[in-house]
Amino acid sequence: MYKKTLTVALATGLVLSPMSFSVDAAKPAPNEQSDHAFDNKVIKKINADSMYNNIALLSKQPRAAGTEGEYKAVQYIKSEFESYGYETELQPFTIQEWDGGTSAISFNDEEPSFDVNSFEGSINGSVTGPLVYVGLASASEVGDEVEGKIALIERGSYSFYEKIQNVYDKGAIGVIMFNGEGRSGNSFGYAYEGQDIPAVAITREAGLSLVEQLQNEDVQASVSVTNAGVIDKTSYNVIAKKEPHPKKDNGQIVTVGAHHDSVPNGPGANDDASGVAATLELARIMAKTPTDTELRFVTFGAEEKGLVGSYHYADTLTDEEIDNMVAHFQMDMVGSRDAGELIMFTPDGNKNLVTDLGASAGARISGAVDYGQLGRSDHVPFFLKGIPSALFIHAPLEPWYHSPDDTIDKISKEKLQNVAEIVGAAVYQIARPDTPALENARVAPSPADYDFDDRPL
Ligand code: BES
Ligand code: ZN
Repeated sequence: MYKKTLTVALATGLVLSPMSFSVDAAKPAPNEQSDHAFDNKVIKKINADSMYNNIALLSKQPRAAGTEGEYKAVQYIKSEFESYGYETELQPFTIQEWDGGTSAISFNDEEPSFDVNSFEGSINGSVTGPLVYVGLASASEVGDEVEGKIALIERGSYSFYEKIQNVYDKGAIGVIMFNGEGRSGNSFGYAYEGQDIPAVAITREAGLSLVEQLQNEDVQASVSVTNAGVIDKTSYNVIAKKEPHPKKDNGQIVTVGAHHDSVPNGPGANDDASGVAATLELARIMAKTPTDTELRFVTFGAEEKGLVGSYHYADTLTDEEIDNMVAHFQMDMVGSRDAGELIMFTPDGNKNLVTDLGASAGARISGAVDYGQLGRSDHVPFFLKGIPSALFIHAPLEPWYHSPDDTIDKISKEKLQNVAEIVGAAVYQIARPDTPALENARVAPSPADYDFDDRPL
């Protein structure tokens, strides 16, 4: 109850208050001056070099959930939190991953010189039959002649689902798909529940040579997929807690988070070693700062697999904890030299306590921060539990997003410093001990005008 009243009061008060002033007004409001003094207690301690060095370390290798790379990062993050004096916990959880097993193909009883990979979701099995080329495998291209045969398909224009379903419906016994125009490699493809024929992928060059061979002769093909299936792996959340000053404890909890996992083929310097480094930095400077609020710094695993770590964390919270959680700040992709301006995203596109505090801190530090609507990161599970939350990110995104080029040399210390200052000042506005800050007009956040922005990503 208390939390809800607080959120509504601030979210509306800041916008509609008759005292509302433009963020670049010449004269600061009286409480803005005191806010600056408080801001300085934290932001003067923020060190962009220490964030940069942590990103360099974390982005030496990919940190895909459930891999050795993630585990190394997790151990490093845990030891950093501990070195600042935090009580730290590793929270393991299970993730499911596709293991492609072993696959093989042969043509006229000869093994080809090229490699093959099973589709994600393919059934295990071995089949032999005539090879038939069905182009892109649209419904109109696939006739009854595929019955009892192995379909050779070109990738493109239609979904994997449609292509396999079209040949499956006509009685094909297996699928070999070659890559689409302009695409390299032989690692692609999804098969779906009920598509009970083995499906494998080959390169475009390999596929085109088979098309040519079929023009000259009949080809008898074999496809086999063995030991493919879903396997369990372990990913982790890293949780560091700071208890409030025992005499000042107001019962509230604020969480600050980032995800430490990366995509499998990328070093994830910006996505999201940058957010982890900023989380560590805020933890470092808050460690010795007295607060009246419990602070939790959390780095999540398996964000890239569907926010798995943050959903797990949110599901382990008790009702009492959820009631006491007043704000979640998520930092994801906060250091790219090549991305746009800072923006705060909420899943419903509405302002909340976190965006109000972020906008207010931004106005004091470097200028207004706008807000917008987006999920796609670990603020979502907090939002779904009713906790005011927002994603701090730069948009439009850098071109290296989710690529092997998301490397340390693209990281801007200025951007890191700015985001850490804004989030740090916003967190401290709740956590500083001269409170309950949020209920005391003298120290309530300075009103800031900030706007909805639907700029492209
Ligand atoms: N850092 C991104 C989130 C993001 C991407 C925000 C693009 C804004 C624009 C995040 O790590 C990510 O890639 N998330 C996944 C979400 C998912 C797996 C549920 C995404 O957006 O594909
Ligand atoms: Zn991310």
